[in-house]
Amino acid sequence: MNCLLSIKNLNKTFDSKDEKICAIEDISLDINEGEIIGIVGTSGCGKSTLLNIIAGLIKQTSGTCTFSKDSPKISYMLQSDALLPWKTVLENATLGLDLMHIKTEESVKEVKKMLKEYGLKDFIDKKPASLSGGMKQRVALIRSLAIKPDILLLDEPFSALDYYTRLTISNDVQRLIKKTKTTTIIITHDIAEALCFADRVVVLSSRPSKVKNIYDLKFPKNLNFIEKRTLPEFNNMYNVIWRDLDVKI
Ligand SMILES: Nc1ncnc2c1ncn2[C@@H]1O[C@H](COP(=O)(O)OP(=O)(O)O)[C@@H](O)[C@H]1O
Ligand SMILES: [Mg+2]
Repeated sequence: MNCLLSIKNLNKTFDSKDEKICAIEDISLDINEGEIIGIVGTSGCGKSTLLNIIAGLIKQTSGTCTFSKDSPKISYMLQSDALLPWKTVLENATLGLDLMHIKTEESVKEVKKMLKEYGLKDFIDKKPASLSGGMKQRVALIRSLAIKPDILLLDEPFSALDYYTRLTISNDVQRLIKKTKTTTIIITHDIAEALCFADRVVVLSSRPSKVKNIYDLKFPKNLNFIEKRTLPEFNNMYNVIWRDLDVKI
């Protein structure tokens, strides 16, 4: 497998007026092309910081993040990825193409096809206000994928959704990502979500974040998220990661 992103000995310390906060300590990780990596860690451990560094939004204190290609296209989808309320669903979904000046008849056609496939056929010309929370997340995801990114970064993308919506939307989103073979890093504090979504799960320690363990998941392919959750080995992995996280309750 070809490595797309190589993270080596990454460190990040925030230097505020009265204290230094070390968020990331010596993280090394290789991410392969087409792979979905799930990153789990407790709240405040440094997950978003790691993603922000990969996206180039903030600078690391030391270490490197190297892409195997020049000027990689990065899509970054946040928890509450607001759609523009005055634009239609189609206009929102093609916004990235617009901003990058790569909108063509062909690319718009592809976006329409994705919208239709993912239950948004009747909403293409409607405004986001008429969509449910889950539908909005689907539009945001389609917008992120429309530019054909080299890597897709998802920071707790479903945490604003209720439990049942979350299950179906995350399943749909994962299918779409797999279909487009987009290399993806998804951050979540939900172990089950990471296990359903990812090919490999990276467990981070509490702050400062270090890589505690990496698990290569071998669940049978083509199972949906509900089916995956019923596998005995799913439960075993869940318990192993739960122990890794070492949450005190
Ligand atoms: N800009 C910043 N300045 C100072 N501290 C920060 C900044 N951004 C994040 N932090 C701190 O770094 C730690 C990790 O934050 P974050 O990466 O957002 O955690 P997570 O996403 O895992 O919940 C937290 O203690 C947070 O308060
Ligand atoms: Mg975060």
